[in-house]
Amino acid sequence: MRIILIGPPGSGKGTQAKRLVKKLGILHISSGDMLREAVAQGTRLGLQAEAFMRQGALVPDSLVIDMIMARISQADCKEGFVLDGFPRTLPQAEALDTALLAAEVEINHVPLLLVPDELIITRITDRVMDPVTGKIYHLIFNPPPDQVLHRVVHRKDDALETVTNRLAKYHEQTEALIPFYERKNLLRKICGVGTIEEVENSLLTALGVA
Ligand code: AP5
Repeated sequence: MRIILIGPPGSGKGTQAKRLVKKLGILHISSGDMLREAVAQGTRLGLQAEAFMRQGALVPDSLVIDMIMARISQADCKEGFVLDGFPRTLPQAEALDTALLAAEVEINHVPLLLVPDELIITRITDRVMDPVTGKIYHLIFNPPPDQVLHRVVHRKDDALETVTNRLAKYHEQTEALIPFYERKNLLRKICGVGTIEEVENSLLTALGVA
C-alpha cells in the first residue's frame, strides 16, 4: 500500500506513521527526519536546508524533491510506503505524480489529520524525543517512561515562534494539496483529536484495514 499522510505540523503524522508501519509492514519515509539527519551529518543538503528549518520555513522544492525521488526509487520501497511530510507544495505533489507514473505505481490513500491550531501549539511545544531510540513523546499526553526522562530533548524548531511560522506555511502552501487529492478521490479526512489510539482506529478504518 502507498500512503501520503498529510496534516499540519504536530497533527500526529509521525506518531501515526510509525503505527502504520507496524500494522502494514511498509516503509516510513519522513522528509523531516531525512532533512534532520542531513543537517546532523553536515551533508551538502543539510547545510542548504538548515537555515530554512530553523526559521520554520519550507526547504526549497528542488532540494526536497531530489531527496525524496532518490529515496522512493530504491528497491525497498517496492512493497509500499507511508510518506510523512512530503509533498508539502503543489510542485512537490506534481513531481511525485510524474515519478509514480513513470514507475507505473499509484498512491492508494491520502489521509488528512485534522487538528485545530490551538491544539497544535500545545502538542508541539511539549513534544520531546529520546535521542537514543528516536521515539517521540509528549510531556502530558504521552509521557516518556521514567528511565528515559533525563535524556529526552526538544526539537530545535519546536519553539513557539517557529511553530507559528510552520503553521502559517501549512495554511499558505500545504493546504492547497487538499483539493488536489480530493479531485483524485484519494483524500480521507481523519479527526486527529482524541487519544493516539482513537486516531489510529479512525485512520485504519479509513484505509480499510481496521
Ligand atoms: P517535519 O519533521 O515534517 O515537521 P512537521 O510537518 O512540522 O510535523 P511534525 O514532525 O512537527 O509533527 P507530526 O505531525 O509528525 O506530529 P507528531 O507525531 O510528532 O518537518 C520539519 C521541517 O523540515 C519543516 O518545517 C521544513 O522546514 C522541513 N521540511 C520537511 N519536509 C519538507 C518538505 N516536503 N518541503 C519543504 N520543507 C520540508 O506529534 C506531535 C506531538 O503530539 C508529539 O509529542 C506526540 O506525542 C503528540 N501526539 C500525537 N498524536 C497525539 C494525540 N492523538 N493526542 C495527544 N498527543 C498526540
